[in-house]
Amino acid sequence: MTAFVLGATGFVGREVVRQLAVRATPVVAHIRPDSKSLAEWKQKLEALGAIIDTTTWDPAALATAIDRHAATQLYILIGTTRGKAKADAVDGDIYEKVDYGLTKIAVEAAQRSQHKPRLVYLSGIGASATARGAYMRARGKAEDAVRGSGLPWVMAQPAIITGERDESRLGEHVGAVVGDGLLAVAGLFSKSLQQKYASTTPDILASALIRIGEAPEHDRAFAGADLR
Ligand SMILES: NC(=O)c1ccc[n+]([C@@H]2O[C@H](COP(=O)([O-])OP(=O)(O)OC[C@H]3O[C@@H](n4cnc5c(N)ncnc54)[C@H](OP(=O)(O)O)[C@@H]3O)[C@@H](O)[C@H]2O)c1
Repeated sequence: MTAFVLGATGFVGREVVRQLAVRATPVVAHIRPDSKSLAEWKQKLEALGAIIDTTTWDPAALATAIDRHAATQLYILIGTTRGKAKADAVDGDIYEKVDYGLTKIAVEAAQRSQHKPRLVYLSGIGASATARGAYMRARGKAEDAVRGSGLPWVMAQPAIITGERDESRLGEHVGAVVGDGLLAVAGLFSKSLQQKYASTTPDILASALIRIGEAPEHDRAFAGADLR
């Protein structure tokens, strides 16, 4: 088993890499070749025990990389924010371009590869291709690309991911505090609904992603208690 992690520099991705390496699962950490912190990330992720891959975001090139590493799971843990897109000079519909656009490239790469890895996609609760908001719409389109890939797939649909980030994300923090506070109001929601919308942390989510990524069962979306 070899895991290929797209988004390995992310809040969740780096924890997936760490946990896989601790369990001695061979893990390839992908860093975009134009990363402004390439050397730093290379050093950090290598120290965790990962093999580094800096293949360009192109379906044919990534397919070759998947085969070179004989990947059995392709983790897609990618997405942008307004701040990140601005720093990357991505304009227009940033979620369509990054969250959906890069997932589409990843799916195409996996389809083209000889190894046909299982797709392990990190989505979010409420994603829908017909959603009004650009973020949820892009996530929904990305989910549809994963579901329609013809490859084995699993996806996680967590609510807010919280914890100490390198950069400040006030909205995320406030969302987690307010959301969890509301859910704590006794008797207002059923237990399963509470679990569905409760915030989570990268370590809990990473371990759930690895579990669903390696389980015999596939072609299924997981949320709530299944991600604990
Ligand atoms: N935060 C939440 O509450 C939440 C809840 C549910 C679902 N999710 C989804 O889960 C995904 C992962 O979450 P996270 O917190 O780990 O995100 P994150 O820390 O922002 O990491 C995002 C990853 O995507 C990469 N990326 C972003 N823009 C890119 C671009 N233009 N080209 C290539 N790579 C790019 C980043 O690479 P660099 O480091 O090189 O920028 C990083 O590896 C999110 O994108 C989000 O949509 C988030």
